[in-house]
Amino acid sequence: MCAGAVATPRTQMDVGQAVAAWEKIAQSFSETRNRPWDQVVDFLETLPEDATLVDVACGNGRHGVIARKMGMRVIGVDASLELADIARERLAEAGDKDASQADAVGGSAMNLPLARNSVDHGLFIAALHNIPGREGRVQALRELRRVLRPRGMALVSVWARWQDRFADHYVKELLRHVPRKLRYGDEAPEFGDILIPWQGDEMRFYHLMSLRETILTCKQAGLFIRDAWSEKLASQWLPDNHFVVVEKPQNVDGA
Ligand SMILES: C[S@@+](CC[C@H](N)C(=O)[O-])C[C@H]1O[C@@H](n2cnc3c(N)ncnc32)[C@H](O)[C@@H]1O
Repeated sequence: MCAGAVATPRTQMDVGQAVAAWEKIAQSFSETRNRPWDQVVDFLETLPEDATLVDVACGNGRHGVIARKMGMRVIGVDASLELADIARERLAEAGDKDASQADAVGGSAMNLPLARNSVDHGLFIAALHNIPGREGRVQALRELRRVLRPRGMALVSVWARWQDRFADHYVKELLRHVPRKLRYGDEAPEFGDILIPWQGDEMRFYHLMSLRETILTCKQAGLFIRDAWSEKLASQWLPDNHFVVVEKPQNVDGA
């Protein structure tokens, strides 16, 4: 595989392989992620200041820090232990010094280390697309639903499939997908799976989605869709990110 160019995984990847890349790039990745997204700040501003917020796949905590400064209680979870460590330190420095009000821990989005109905609201920013396999992504969203209290809201964002950077790749994939499916059957990667190099080297797994697929995946996890839209954050022509505001229905037991 050529480092520096995007590629398609030869077969489906497992979650462990996908997570390993994040652990390797944790420090350099964190150094490039300081500015919070306006869309996330706007969402946080709609929440009560005393809310408890889970930041699923929190990375270095850049968004949790903003919530903490607003007065919220924040719990970050990330599969990379190093990124969780960085987030914990940053959260401890934000807001008041009451350590019980903020924490970040290593853990899987597919098995959150939190009790059901234990948080008011959530973030799941730029990470659902890093989970290989539709079942895994639905499982991660079911976990979000489980830990949210009834009527709790969360902002979910993913990278768009048909964005300027990757449109060429996916046009070629349209031609390659069926032959690959015939050859590898259930082992074939999903349409949308892509490996994207970090600083020309370590390959990160992404499953890039349409807005429709993003909405359907949230619905399959039992979440209501309150809003959904696409935006150009860095691209010129086609939206590069999809955003969905989801709500946990009133009448579920969180299981
Ligand atoms: C692009 S970063 C986004 C980080 C953060 N949400 C932000 O907006 O800055 C993706 C994050 O997802 C985490 N991640 C990837 N797979 C995960 C999984 N299965 N469970 C939990 N975190 C995961 C990575 O370690 C990484 O921190």
